[in-house]
Amino acid sequence: MSETAPSALLALLRQRRSVRSFTDQPLTEAQRQLLREVALRAPSSRGRSPWHFIFVEDRALLGQLAQAKQQGSAFLANAALAVVVCADPQISDVWIEDCALATTLLHLAASEAGLGSCWVQIRQRPHDANRSAESWVQSCLAIPPNLRVATIVGIGWTGTTLPGHAAESLAQERLHQQRFGQ
Ligand SMILES: Cc1cc2nc3c(=O)[nH]c(=O)nc-3n(C[C@H](O)[C@H](O)[C@H](O)COP(=O)(O)O)c2cc1C
Repeated sequence: MSETAPSALLALLRQRRSVRSFTDQPLTEAQRQLLREVALRAPSSRGRSPWHFIFVEDRALLGQLAQAKQQGSAFLANAALAVVVCADPQISDVWIEDCALATTLLHLAASEAGLGSCWVQIRQRPHDANRSAESWVQSCLAIPPNLRVATIVGIGWTGTTLPGHAAESLAQERLHQQRFGQ
């Protein structure tokens, strides 16, 4: 790793972790505003901005969103905020990529704002044997049927401190020079 002072982005990436444990402290209005702006500044293919972001802080709704999947969504019940990322596939054929990028930016921005956060995958995941997680979330939040639900970002004041991943743990073998395997 570089010996020079890391850029703000690299410093953030070095300490970033997925956080699923939160205190019950609400977000500040400045944090809410920051996250709203970050969502809307996400790049999107052809600048089509196909997404919608639903900011959920109502505890009953957070409890319902927590039940979206049998695994991997329960922590939303204790989040201060869930940002549901959905998009209109009629506006962009690469709405999945657009939503994934916005989700990543929300995760990083939360970390920079001193908050913990974690991605919850909704698209392609089951709620139970008969229903998709997407259908569950659509019903909980009255999302119109023309919108697809990609992800939820659960955000809150962190209840645990996780260390960033050590430089030695990075998968250097996944880096290639000019051709695969070199
Ligand atoms: C595409 C994607 C889907 C994920 N889905 C979930 C999820 O549904 N529930 C969850 O708790 N974490 C989810 N995560 C978080 C990962 O589990 C986490 O990033 C991974 O374990 C590495 O941990 P770290 O982010 O702390 O480095 C997801 C992450 C990504 C990138």
